Amino acid sequence: MLAVNAIEVFYGESRILNHLNLTVGEGQVVCVMGRNGVGKTTLLKTIMGLLAPRQGTIVFDGREIGGLTPYERARLGMGYVPQGREIFPSLSVRENLVLGARRKRPTPASLDYVLSLFPALSQMLDKRGGDLSGGQQQQLAIARTLISDPKLLLLDEPTEGIQPSIVQEIAGVLQRIKQERKRSILLVEQYLEFARSICDRFYVMEKGAVALEGDRGAFRIDEVSAFLSV
Ligand SMILES: Nc1ncnc2c1ncn2[C@@H]1O[C@H](COP(=O)(O)OP(=O)(O)OP(=O)(O)O)[C@@H](O)[C@H]1O
Ligand SMILES: [Mg+2]
Repeated sequence: MLAVNAIEVFYGESRILNHLNLTVGEGQVVCVMGRNGVGKTTLLKTIMGLLAPRQGTIVFDGREIGGLTPYERARLGMGYVPQGREIFPSLSVRENLVLGARRKRPTPASLDYVLSLFPALSQMLDKRGGDLSGGQQQQLAIARTLISDPKLLLLDEPTEGIQPSIVQEIAGVLQRIKQERKRSILLVEQYLEFARSICDRFYVMEKGAVALEGDRGAFRIDEVSAFLSV
């Protein structure tokens, strides 16, 4: 589904990603962890086409996508939920959702589907995005991306600063998307119990490259957290 091959990404002269390799299989949930500033967001932005690698390739659905814009990648089936939510605070929940649809208006089925995933949002369609709690805004940001039914969902720290009950809801939604729609998810996450509970495979980054990787069975909280502590 997705293969990131030996990418090198720079900000100016500083090399942020250094020969990084990562794959996401069809229908898999893959978690990426690593200390603050290690390059996790840089990785997602590069996959989405917001940053260009100097070296290396990215293959999505059997096709090398290095030359495509973020918009073209979205059309091929990538959906990106950036870190820090980035919903439109002055627009209503409904307007935020409509803006996520690739076509001018979402189909009733796609709107119903995302509201079934996040029932709390259906009570708030006319509220301003900015009036929602942080956790509700995160749910809205995810719903807005899901409305176009991406084959691969890129999620950047969806649990950051969010209360535990909503973390559980988000975990349940990601499981449902995986099981019901057989979609793939690449999740950047610092909350290790959450990551372990939903991943099929995991990666830990250090110095812009992969320091540890494995299947869910090999995910040991103590070992991973040793990489995250300073
Ligand atoms: N626009 C930018 N210009 C220059 N350097 C940047 C820019 N954005 C990020 N960086 C630097 O690149 C490195 C990687 O940043 P990145 O945001 O990818 O890390 P991260 O792993 O997502 O961190 P966090 O856990 O804090 O979200 C950091 O050292 C950061 O300071
Ligand atoms: Mg980040």
